[in-house]
Amino acid sequence: MNHTHRTLSVDSNACIGCGICTSVCPFGVLIMEEGRPRLDPDKHCLKCLHCAAACPREAILFGGERASVAAAELAETAGSSEAAGRTGRAGLTGLSPEFVSQLAVHLSGRRSYRHFTGDPVDRRLLEEAAALADFAPSAKNQHPAGWIIVNSREKAREIMELVLSYVRETGVSPEILSEYESGNNVVMGTASTLILGYCRDTAVNPPVDTALALSVMELYLQARGVGTCWAGYLTRLANASPDLRRLLNLPEGSLFYGALMAGYPSEESYLRVPVRTKPAPVTWL
Ligand SMILES: Cc1cc2nc3c(=O)[nH]c(=O)nc-3n(C[C@H](O)[C@H](O)[C@H](O)COP(=O)(O)O)c2cc1C
Ligand code: SF4
Ligand code: SF4
Repeated sequence: MNHTHRTLSVDSNACIGCGICTSVCPFGVLIMEEGRPRLDPDKHCLKCLHCAAACPREAILFGGERASVAAAELAETAGSSEAAGRTGRAGLTGLSPEFVSQLAVHLSGRRSYRHFTGDPVDRRLLEEAAALADFAPSAKNQHPAGWIIVNSREKAREIMELVLSYVRETGVSPEILSEYESGNNVVMGTASTLILGYCRDTAVNPPVDTALALSVMELYLQARGVGTCWAGYLTRLANASPDLRRLLNLPEGSLFYGALMAGYPSEESYLRVPVRTKPAPVTWL
């Protein structure tokens, strides 16, 4: 069935009314009513299935079917293609089948985290992530991305103030303000750590190079227990607002091409892996 026509529903027999699903929903789409969650008809559901991944009772359904699978189930099928191929990389140390299986679980278990303790992330972990990101491919091997890393509550708060001022002054993305006023920060969640990637705008492919490097960082950080989420609003507004560009020390001739919010997850844990609601079409030729 087409993804756009399938919707989310709650199995009221399985639901225990704990409200966890509402707390992880990134846009406050789920609201509690008479002890059960329901979709706010005025809000747009992203179909991210965070609610399903966090629900302790598998009570969230998508298109009437189960919306998540257990990581153990995935681990069983992941790496099963080993029979047809080889495990390991040519010329490099072989990777064990267990590693391949865990890798597949890690890749499918990556989630966007937006609720954090507020403690800055250990600087060594951030340094390790940045060093690994240097191994990402880049157009013409330019490796044009540089990182501006905010790692303090005060600085993050200052940035958020400037984001809000910019939204108030210009009226762009008004949902940032309305969500913020109802206690949901869609720009940086409750993160104190922000990783902003910038490139000189004359590089061959700044958006792709930055995204590939950030993706490596995200996967590494999540493997080390640090929650991350892409920060598209922040990227856009940091370029648009002269005050933000100044505060963030963006070098002349460069633009931000991607950013992550990061931190140690708090009151946000995902028990299961949500099903894919929109598998990409694959054409075999
Ligand atoms: C380029 C990009 C920009 C994004 N910007 C934001 C953002 O500004 N705020 C936010 O809360 N989530 C943001 N996200 C996270 C997406 O909402 C999230 O990836 C999607 O809902 C799927 O959830 P998942 O990452 O847990 O699978 C962004 C993701 C990407 C790839
Ligand atoms: S997380 Fe699951 S059990 Fe808890 S309220 Fe939501 S649907 Fe019900
Ligand atoms: S699928 Fe995502 S956006 Fe939709 S209700 Fe669940 S958590 Fe909220």
